[in-house]
Amino acid sequence: MAEVNLLARYPKSKRNVQARLVHKEDNRRIALQFGMEYFDGRREQGYGGYRYDGRWLPIAEDIVRHFGLKAGDRVLDVGCAKGFLVKDLLKSCPGLEIFGIDVSEYAVMNAEPEVIGRLHLGNAVSLPFPDKSFDAVLAINTVHNLDRAGCVQALREIERVSRGRSYIQVDAYRSPEERKIFEDWMLTAQTYAMPREWEEILAEAGYTGDYYWTILEIDPEWTIT
Ligand SMILES: C[S@@+](CC[C@H](N)C(=O)[O-])C[C@H]1O[C@@H](n2cnc3c(N)ncnc32)[C@H](O)[C@@H]1O
Repeated sequence: MAEVNLLARYPKSKRNVQARLVHKEDNRRIALQFGMEYFDGRREQGYGGYRYDGRWLPIAEDIVRHFGLKAGDRVLDVGCAKGFLVKDLLKSCPGLEIFGIDVSEYAVMNAEPEVIGRLHLGNAVSLPFPDKSFDAVLAINTVHNLDRAGCVQALREIERVSRGRSYIQVDAYRSPEERKIFEDWMLTAQTYAMPREWEEILAEAGYTGDYYWTILEIDPEWTIT
């Protein structure tokens, strides 16, 4: 188990935190349905347009290198959304047996054409796959959408279906200031904590894979109006 940032090459985006604070509870309720509004509706309710733009390609390359993936290896992306990472892993490593699973019917029904048939509808807390089915399992910004007990269960499921290699990334904060920014911005997270608290959750679940944190840092470039 190692703390390693496989999303180091993911681009930073500008965030209008103040706009999120208007009708926050309504926006959160809508976002938590993980439907059209969350992916392709207004920015206050989610992504504001979840469209493929190739930004996952460098991350896919880093994942392939980190795990030494090769054609024929079986990989699962838990919380795959429309399959952008699945598509870019296929590009980075042709012949990879890569699949995704997501709780959102909207995302799976609006998947990238290249990954149709590779994405399953399902929940991270109960992965519909036999033990040790995958050479590597990924779950990027997915597990924290469950409550604490759900996180533990999802981590156990990732551990169960993998053959020992996995990577998760979850929402975290390191200071009261980062926690405040995060709470103002986030819509769907149910569990978020300091890294050392997350490490306790990982240990409780018996998770042995790699991990890293999604931390909203205080960035002067953000549009906070
Ligand atoms: C923040 S998005 C991340 C999507 C993608 N992994 C990425 O990083 O762009 C969270 C994704 O997790 C999915 N999700 C939320 N709860 C889930 C659950 N219990 N099981 C599986 N997928 C879930 C959502 O539908 C959404 O696609």
